[in-house]
Amino acid sequence: MGINILGMGSYLPEQVLTNNDFKKFVDTSDEWIKTRTGICSRHMAGWEPTWYMGRQAALKAVEKSGIDPKEIGLVITSTITSDFLTPSIASIIQHEIGAENAAAFDLSAACSGFVYAVDTAKRFMQTDDNLKYVLVIATEALSRFIDYSDRSTCILFGDGSAAAVLEKSDKLYSSFLASDGGGARKLFARNMQQAPEVRIERDFDDGFPEKPMHQLFQDGKEVYKFAVKALPKAFRAAAEKINITTSDIDWFIPHQANIRIIETAAKNLGIGMEKFVVTVDHHGNTSSASIPLALCEAIDKGDIKRGQKIALIGFGAGLTYGSVILEY
Ligand code: ACO
Repeated sequence: MGINILGMGSYLPEQVLTNNDFKKFVDTSDEWIKTRTGICSRHMAGWEPTWYMGRQAALKAVEKSGIDPKEIGLVITSTITSDFLTPSIASIIQHEIGAENAAAFDLSAACSGFVYAVDTAKRFMQTDDNLKYVLVIATEALSRFIDYSDRSTCILFGDGSAAAVLEKSDKLYSSFLASDGGGARKLFARNMQQAPEVRIERDFDDGFPEKPMHQLFQDGKEVYKFAVKALPKAFRAAAEKINITTSDIDWFIPHQANIRIIETAAKNLGIGMEKFVVTVDHHGNTSSASIPLALCEAIDKGDIKRGQKIALIGFGAGLTYGSVILEY
């Protein structure tokens, strides 16, 4: 069993920050950011919550699909920048869009989140004959979890959301999901404080570097080294399962973190950059929203056409990685 992407939608906040705007916070330059990352600008959320951005993308995806939201049986939202510890963003969006017959949950797999969510949706559909449509949303507002005094991370991230309505089909499909938790301390944001009444001397070291709560810490060099290996590995593992190679794929849509990571991965896989969808220049790194935002943009531009084979490849905090190969 495979899946069909019935329709997609996206939402990008109105506010756009150029590289030069970051000179207000840190000692940086447009030239450094462009050369080291390929990023020129990124969207940044204003006051709209992460769930609201996801809602807007979801409404467009449902409209494009031409379905009744009541026919959606499951809403999965990928996010690492939720507005709440609980409830799930998925439950909020489920109500907001009138998907009253859907189960709903959030999924946390960082920048691999959309790949994880699509594969989870597929597996749900595979085992539940009554499940007609699954709505997968990736919505992120990284700008709320950034240390604006850390010039090596604050310039990387952007905000945005994208969503897809999925249904069962007999189209080509393969996937590979993985995690290397040994790298968990290389990329994280804490969400912990002791209750004041029970505050005691700190007597436990969890091995994570010091960083204030809700601020992203990244060991850029280590994550970079991981990413350039994980990207080709994830694709090859999914491709081998269905006995296909890079030449069978029309479009590669990797996580958009850094153009140098994408170029190195293209070289490792022996493919020209013309087969890669690149949006990192104008989106920055939007974590799990980056792959569906790129996919949605390429579909809307008419680059990706029905019948073409695409490879979605994610990598991120966890350290997670994975790939989904499917026919559009
Ligand atoms: N402007 C100017 N100079 C800077 C900036 C900046 N914004 N940031 C760092 N520098 C300086 C450093 O201080 C350093 O100066 P020094 O040599 O005087 O010490 C110099 O530039 C080189 O710094 P490096 O860290 O070596 O730069 P590098 O080429 O490694 O690029 C980067 C850093 C862009 C973060 C890179 O390591 C990277 O992209 N890593 C991967 C990030 C990633 O892919 N994350 C994905 C997952 S995200 C998720 O899951 C949420």
